[in-house]
Amino acid sequence: MGEKFYITTPIYYVNDRPHVGHAYATIAADVLARFWRARLGENRVWFLTGTDEHGAKIAQAAKKAGKTPQALADEVSASFRGAWEELRISYDDFIRTTESRHAQAVVSFLKILQNAKTPAGNPALYEGEYRGLYCTGHEAFLNESDLRDGLCPDHKTKPELVAEKNWFFRLSDYAEPLHKRIEALALAVEPESRRNEVLSFIAHGLEDIAISRPQVQWGIPLPFDPGQTVYVWVDALINYVSAIGYGSDDATMQQWWPADLHIVGKDIIKFHCVIWPALLLAVGLALPRKVFAHGFFTVGGEKISKSLGNAIDPMRIVKAYGVDALRYYLLREIPFGGDGDFLEEKLRAVYNGELANGLGNLVARVAALGQKLSQVTFDFASDIRPAVHEEIDKRFRRYEEAMTSLRLHEALGEVWQLISFTDRYLNDTKPWAVRDPEELRKIICRAAWIVSAIANLVRPFLPGTADKIQEQIRFADSVLHIAKGPNLFPRLPA
Ligand code: MSP
Repeated sequence: MGEKFYITTPIYYVNDRPHVGHAYATIAADVLARFWRARLGENRVWFLTGTDEHGAKIAQAAKKAGKTPQALADEVSASFRGAWEELRISYDDFIRTTESRHAQAVVSFLKILQNAKTPAGNPALYEGEYRGLYCTGHEAFLNESDLRDGLCPDHKTKPELVAEKNWFFRLSDYAEPLHKRIEALALAVEPESRRNEVLSFIAHGLEDIAISRPQVQWGIPLPFDPGQTVYVWVDALINYVSAIGYGSDDATMQQWWPADLHIVGKDIIKFHCVIWPALLLAVGLALPRKVFAHGFFTVGGEKISKSLGNAIDPMRIVKAYGVDALRYYLLREIPFGGDGDFLEEKLRAVYNGELANGLGNLVARVAALGQKLSQVTFDFASDIRPAVHEEIDKRFRRYEEAMTSLRLHEALGEVWQLISFTDRYLNDTKPWAVRDPEELRKIICRAAWIVSAIANLVRPFLPGTADKIQEQIRFADSVLHIAKGPNLFPRLPA
């Protein structure tokens, strides 16, 4: 097996319908999956997403909705799949933590964990009493010092004081091995600011964590203590291996594990860069190669929250502006890894400025020029190469560099530089005033050639638009085919 690329998104809680925040993480992963498929081949890439369906948070949401947790999970998980279809998410697999393939893998994983020893030679699991403050919103215990006025600062709710018997995972024995691996980039954590955050968190020492809950019924029973269920975060993290056959299909597991890239939100970095790798070390699995934490979208400056009811439904945006406008806006608006604000007026401005006037207008311009010629043959070496290859090569190189280092907004920036270059080329050569048919043929061929290069570069981001460009402008067997079609991005009224 040569090079492969296994990429994952977080699995989303089913207490909430898909909103732009979920769409953002999933679209980013989709862009990367498409990019790597084009580089490595279709069957060398595996793209996993799914839904996180167990735990107290889901049980409570179901109760509130007057449904069984399973009914709520079925409904919301289906709405995620529906949204991903509309957003053209090309996932290879969609895992649900209520599937039996997942539960079986969790059971196998925990059985191994139960017999595992930490690097210091201690049993990885032990039974103990826990007293602590549990925030259901986070599905995690908080420290007294995390609270503000007695409330969870993120969810504005009072955490529940629980005193219960749990099984513990001896996370404290993993501080050193984790620190070493993250520092040596054996587990790369990006952006760098996040790596520093994780390293300093580990350097302060790690506390053991409860990996089971006695009072949470909606979960996977612990194989060696069925009165308890597996802590929902442990259950959820295991999705990354349960989906590729952990404990049941060694060949598939070997084909894809370790993950090449976990895309996660910055809010869940500790789970992915501390707890998850420690669990993997404990059961003897390789660590993921990279965890990338993206930033958060606010809406009009406010945190997206169920209680504020300000979540933007990505489906509404798709209906109003088209799926590629949303994909473009989300990835172009903020540097990948940073935070940003979702503003519909901004989206409209970007749509008119960069999609309609930029890409759409260029394609229309070249297609219109092409209508002037009938059968256009061309020779790459003499017609195209000398005039434009330098610019194309430069932009391709930078684009590749940006994509492989996850600077997705910069990759798009390179494409838009190429669009401006082509616009300038047409303004300078003024094909509308050129009388000599041979001269005209060359100009059109060059511009069309760059436009088809642009179609390839935007394809991972804007798959539908790339298809539409190629329906209008296409090179085949040294013939250029041009058929003017409808505007790619009809202008929006101001
Ligand atoms: N179920 C856990 C993840 C388990 S992964 C093993 C969870 N789910 S979540 O639905 O609350 O959020 C998952 C992810 O959605 C976040 O990590 C982030 O990637 C994305 N986003 C949710 N809200 C977001 C924004 N407002 N902005 C950008 N991304 C956001 O945590």
